[in-house]
Amino acid sequence: MFSRALGVVVLVASCLVSTGTAVTYSPVKPPSYPLAVRSPYLSAWIPGSDVASLPNSNAQFWAGNDLTWSVIARVDGTTYNLFGVTSPPVGTKSATVTEASYTSTHSTFVVTAGSRQFTLDFFSPVSPKNYIRQSLPFSYLTVTLAAGDSSSVQIYSDIDSTWTGQTSDSSWSYTTSGSTSVFQIQTVGAATYSQNSDGQALWGSAVYATAGTSLSTQSGPISTLRNRFVNNGTLSGDHADWTSNGAVAFAHDLGTTADETAVTFAIGHVREQSIDFLGAAQTGYYRSAYKETPAAVAHFLNDYEAANSESTKLDDLIQSIGTSSYGSNYSDILALSVRQTYGGTEITIPDDSLDTSDTRAFIKEISSDGNINTVDVIYATFPIFYILSPDYLKLLLSPVFDYMGSDAYTKDYAVHEIGANYPNATGHPADGEEMPIEESGNVIFLAYAYQKATGNRDFATTYSAQLKKYADYLQENGLYPASQLSLNDALGALANQTNLAVKAAVGLATYGALTGDMSYTTVGKEWGDKIWTDHLGTDADGTHFLIQYGITPWFLVYNHYPDLLFCLNAFPDEAYNATAKFYPTVRGTAGVPLDGTLGWGQTNWQAFVAATVSGDAREMFISDLHAYMANGLNTAPFSDRYWVDASGSYSAGESYSFRARPTLGSHFALAALSGANIWS
Ligand SMILES: *[C@@H]1O[C@H](CO)[C@@H](O)[C@H](O)[C@H]1NC(C)=O
Ligand SMILES: *[C@@H]1O[C@H](CO)[C@@H](O)[C@H](O)[C@H]1NC(C)=O
Ligand SMILES: *[C@@H]1O[C@H](CO)[C@@H](O)[C@H](O)[C@H]1NC(C)=O
Ligand SMILES: *[C@@H]1O[C@H](CO)[C@@H](O)[C@H](O)[C@H]1NC(C)=O
Ligand SMILES: *[C@@H]1O[C@H](CO)[C@@H](O)[C@H](O)[C@H]1NC(C)=O
Repeated sequence: MFSRALGVVVLVASCLVSTGTAVTYSPVKPPSYPLAVRSPYLSAWIPGSDVASLPNSNAQFWAGNDLTWSVIARVDGTTYNLFGVTSPPVGTKSATVTEASYTSTHSTFVVTAGSRQFTLDFFSPVSPKNYIRQSLPFSYLTVTLAAGDSSSVQIYSDIDSTWTGQTSDSSWSYTTSGSTSVFQIQTVGAATYSQNSDGQALWGSAVYATAGTSLSTQSGPISTLRNRFVNNGTLSGDHADWTSNGAVAFAHDLGTTADETAVTFAIGHVREQSIDFLGAAQTGYYRSAYKETPAAVAHFLNDYEAANSESTKLDDLIQSIGTSSYGSNYSDILALSVRQTYGGTEITIPDDSLDTSDTRAFIKEISSDGNINTVDVIYATFPIFYILSPDYLKLLLSPVFDYMGSDAYTKDYAVHEIGANYPNATGHPADGEEMPIEESGNVIFLAYAYQKATGNRDFATTYSAQLKKYADYLQENGLYPASQLSLNDALGALANQTNLAVKAAVGLATYGALTGDMSYTTVGKEWGDKIWTDHLGTDADGTHFLIQYGITPWFLVYNHYPDLLFCLNAFPDEAYNATAKFYPTVRGTAGVPLDGTLGWGQTNWQAFVAATVSGDAREMFISDLHAYMANGLNTAPFSDRYWVDASGSYSAGESYSFRARPTLGSHFALAALSGANIWS
């Protein structure tokens, strides 16, 4: 009787697995899972809505175009598609997806294929202070066979020239480095530093690599490779030339095993000349140690254990700073924001000297316009760097200051960006955007964030004359800003923008803290009092900020966040208390918009304001952000702009055009209040 009952239980359990329709999403089902997100050009994702059909769904580049990347497994001669097989070969089955989860560095999917269970772990390292590890332009895919019966298992994976951005004319090569097998695919005939219309790099090469003792390889028409694996479990070792229907593939034979067994692949996109900085080619920092791609990717695979153990430490830290500064809703948001932020950023050295004393960083304004080192994008991003890698602030700002200090730049305020099109950091175009108060304030905040987090005065010393120039610009122009753009360029040019004057006031107080010249601090505080206490920038009753002096609507003023972060007290406490009371009264259906006339809001500035308010208002901001992330309405890599109210064909909670922007570093604003530079 007892054993019969047990038998029934087992039967029910196995029925559930084999017919299972429900996927468990943990901690939530996000709009899109990062798969391989390491640079603006290695940015592969899968929409959350595609995960239940993972075996037959494509990876996508951040822009949404398909990338061919498959995993297929044979279990005792039966073939199961695990990932990315949109046209299943005849005679194959689809695995069943049971679990999907993400941390700050891993996206993990558990699938069942016949009698065996596999875990696909897409791991993009984020190494806040190890520039070699961080700059290696590769990401891991580890396929783990769980312990089980003694079936015979083989694992196959392929990619094709969708990874090069040009499927019409490419070429490929196969090499080995030690025990590592390496395929590289590159476009033919494209210019260095050029992109396709989806923003993929047309120069450089896509890389696929793995190592193993029972490994076979093949390149050729994709159907030939997959059919060969289906029928045989191995590949032929033939390396046919590129064709437009071609792919490169690996097959690992795990043999007959009941044990847990794992194989790891490295996927990447390498550009040896990665950035054009004022005419000088820059390259990835890692090339100081691993100059050639096969050696670099072999090192990357060898570094797996160390990188993975660092990732566990980072995942734990993000989880704990999220829960301790607010709760698990907040840590869910932070975890999804980490790869997207670092993956929009690259650490470089000069391509000719490979001199690591000449290290720089570049950030791409992905999707909104492709600008390089946009100063307000660095501003949006800075809280995560303040916490984890404050040196990045110096590395990102120094190319901006070097450009602004050159004869090519003649303005007396700070520049908006150093090039219209990443990776060409060739200077701000004459017809580029001008945001005088915005960027002059931002460079001062960022310089001080670096100094406060690290205790190093080197940046402020090196660039003291320029910093003073921008502080003086704020002092002369900041209380009544002339008609100009702010970073919210969608609003157009407006005069007397309260949020810009707030930036100027806090910027002056920050400059005082940066340099010790308290006369600037005094002016900043006077302006804070004028704007808030004397109602220059508020409604007549002083309950909230207006978009422009004396002009409605209200505005979500976020530029006093640095005031709070740096403990400057340029604005009175009352400003924080009153706005905490006010914002919940103007919430839309799915969140607080950017101002009283708009149907959309930005997660960046909601997250800044969540840090400046307490109590119910903070709870509202974090909870709305979490609901937006988890509402199932979106499929793009985390968009930082969304409809808070229904508008036209959009529902409240749907994202609004931006995607995959590195500006999600802003989500760390609240966590940053607990301390800087906590990663060692
Ligand atoms: C960068 O500049 C080069 C010319 O120097 C050009 O060929 C390329 O298309 C530019 N890249 C972008 C993304 O505009
Ligand atoms: C399978 O692989 C073995 C070993 O490489 C080879 O001898 C055999 O011809 C292959 N069979 C098929 C059907 O491709
Ligand atoms: C800015 O505000 C001040 C004070 O309210 C006002 O005198 C001035 O005319 C405004 N400037 C513009 C350009 O509207
Ligand atoms: C702001 O709110 C805090 C907490 O509610 C309170 O202790 C403080 O007195 C308030 N300050 C002002 C200036 O209203
Ligand atoms: C967490 O976020 C969800 C929306 O996704 C919300 O319903 C819930 O109230 C939030 N929990 C807390 C404790 O704020």
